[in-house]
Order: sequence, then structure tokens, then C-alpha cells
Amino acid sequence: MIETAHRGLLLTNIGQLLTLTGSSRSRRGAELSDLGIVEHAAVLCRDGKIAAVGSESELMRSFKDSSVERVDCQGGVVLPGFIDSHTHPVFTSPRLVDFEKRIQGASYEQIAQAGGGIRSGVAGVRAATEEELATHVLLALRSMQVCGTTTVEAKSGYGLSPDSERKSLRAIQRAASKWEGTVIPTLLAAHVVPAEFAGKPNAYVDLICSEIIPETAKAKLAQYVDVFCERGAFTLEQTERVFTAAQEHGLGVRAHVCQFTPAEVSRLARFDPASFDHLDCIDDNNLKALATQNTVATLLPGASYFLGHAYPPARKLIAAGAAVALATDYNPGTSPTSSMPLVLSLACTQMRMEPAEAIAAATINGAHALRLADRKGSIELGKDADLAIFDFGDYRELCYWFGSTTCRGTVTNGRLEIF
Ligand code: NIG
Ligand code: FE
Repeated sequence: MIETAHRGLLLTNIGQLLTLTGSSRSRRGAELSDLGIVEHAAVLCRDGKIAAVGSESELMRSFKDSSVERVDCQGGVVLPGFIDSHTHPVFTSPRLVDFEKRIQGASYEQIAQAGGGIRSGVAGVRAATEEELATHVLLALRSMQVCGTTTVEAKSGYGLSPDSERKSLRAIQRAASKWEGTVIPTLLAAHVVPAEFAGKPNAYVDLICSEIIPETAKAKLAQYVDVFCERGAFTLEQTERVFTAAQEHGLGVRAHVCQFTPAEVSRLARFDPASFDHLDCIDDNNLKALATQNTVATLLPGASYFLGHAYPPARKLIAAGAAVALATDYNPGTSPTSSMPLVLSLACTQMRMEPAEAIAAATINGAHALRLADRKGSIELGKDADLAIFDFGDYRELCYWFGSTTCRGTVTNGRLEIF
């Protein structure tokens, strides 16, 4: 890997530049298909920001600075770096026993009830040092980056105690400080009830609300609080309590909802969650309500693929006017992939999203899901210089080839890395 840090970077000979310029609001309906393509394009990055963008012939006419570094994109596709707005990178080992049990016919919920699932990863995280966890997180961030991802939301959630949730968030912070991309940390203490609180879920929710959230906010270790709102995890009432505490401490909220069972998630609308994620089983009434909200519908087809479940109703959500985003859900239990191009392929082949819709969902709408769209998700003057360079002649190839797509290079906050 060649790494170059510099103040000026000019990308030339871009066959298709997907700018994703347009409305400052999240993309819905037909807007999702508008990639703002410029052919034969160039982009100038300076001081970590987009300084000029347009057709190469026009841009070069007024461009005299010979000191900038030039990158020939060889007619390839350049787009905003993917925004992976839902990941769980703080764990220590793959869950291979669960994997084999599921192959033999056990369901995710049966495995969890029998002591596998999320709880089975807790001992490893509790025993690990912050540095060990950070090493794992950094490896995950780098494996995402080679697939074109430049911004990652990273959740805690396998520690499930004040100490080990803090350690997990610090590990995210430590890994983020060694990575050129952008990391948005999320507290997911409400992932499941840990074994020591078995039969006393409300006492664990009390601990989250009275201790874990206030400490996290005070130490500025997370921007969001997430809840796994699901049968076998946390109820809607418990989710409301966690959201209330999060908002009292100035943290944003988001939730895993309707992954296995439908729920009245419209009850949570008053908290203005940044995103509802999964939505595989959302019913029509809640789907219609969600479509009228600011809350982004983040779909995670990697989890449906890995668990062999039905995929979320992407077409229905788009037709209803919801703001749909796509993310990997990188985690050891339901979606062990760091590849946004694989997620794009699944979105197109299994959820019938158009390639253009999938790309918008993985870039600008991912930025909206993290409330970062004022600086990320599109290639526009003044936005962060976060780009992915692919050796394709046509953007649809990003969704067409599956399982092997890596990018040629990325620009993260203005810094070029060629892989
Ligand atoms: O997004 N559903 C809850 N959380 C994860 C799974 C975590 C795990 O099984 O480790 C998800 O699918
Ligand atoms: Fe998840």
C-alpha cells in the first residue's frame, strides 16, 4: 500500500464521477436514482475538502497549480466513499459454533436462548485489553476501506457492563485515531441483557440509564445510543426508557427494530431517531409512518443473507417515500462482512433495488443516517474529500460483480491511499 499525505490532490481521467449532488435532504423515491454523473471528470481536493469538481476539460482550463499531486484514474469510476452506517466491530472471535448450529437447522433466536449468540461473545470482550480490542477494530476498519468505505459507524455492545462497554468505546476511539477515515461511535449497552441480570432486565435498563449513558456522555465516548428492540432483547417500553436517558444526556438515538418480529415502532417517532435498522418484518402501518419521518430506514441485507431470512421490503419502503440507506451490519453473529459492494449486490439481486438506488443508499443516505450529510456523502464543493476509486467503466459494475470487489484506492479527508 502506497500512502501519500498532501495538501493538494487532483484526480484526473475519471470515466464516470458519481457526484450525488442534489437536495440537502435525504433522498427518497425517484431522487434515489439520481447519481449526478459527470463523465470525463476531474476532482481537486485541498486541505481535506473538495475544492473543485467538474468535467476535466473545464477544470483544467482554469487550473495552473503544478505543485499538486495528480492521480490518473484511468477512465474508472469515482464516487463518494461508502458510508457504512451500522457496524459492530468490537468483538474478539468469530462465532463458529453458532454458524454450524444454524446450518444444522437451529434458528438465531434458539441459539441465543441456549446461551449462544451475543452473550457468548461477552466473556472474550470482558477479558480483552482495550488495546487488543482496538487492534481488532482497526483491522476491521482497514478491511472496510479496501472495499471503498471511508466513514464507519461503530457500536459497542459485546461488553454489557459499565467497564467493558467503556473499554469497547475507548477501543473504537483508539482505532479511529489510527485510521484516516471517519468513525462515529455508538453505545449499544442495550444489545441483550447480560447473564448476571438474567430475570431482572429492568435492573439492567436502570444501570444503562443511570450509569452507563451518563458516563458515556460525560466522557464523550459516543454520539449515539442504540437499542436492540426485539423479542428476547429489549421491549418498546425499555427502548423508550433508554432513549429518554440518551436524550437527557445530549446523545442521538437509533435502534435495531423489526429484525425478527414486527413492532409498533411509530411509538418511538417522538425521539426523532437518526435511523431504524433492519426492518425485515415491519408492518404496513409502521412502514407508512416511517416514510413520513426524518428517520432513515437502514437496510442490512448481509444479515438476511447470513441467517437465511427474508430480506427487508426495500421496494415498499422506497415506494412509500422512506429514506432508505444500506450498511454491512459487520458483526460476528449475523453479518460477518466488511464489504459494501457485496451489500450493494444483495440489495439489487435480492431486494430489487436499482444499482443507482443502492449506490445513493450507501453514500448520501448513509450520511443522512449519521446526520453527517452537511459534510459527507456527496462530492460537492466544501464537503470532506472522501472518495473511492474503482477500476470499472460503468458504475453498475459495483453492484454486478459480487464477492470479490475491492477498490483501487480511497481518499479519506483528503489523503490518498492506493491499494
Ligand atoms: O444487527 N440484532 C442485533 N445485533 C446484531 C447481531 C449481533 C450478533 O448476533 O452478534 C445485528 O444483526
Ligand atoms: Fe446490528
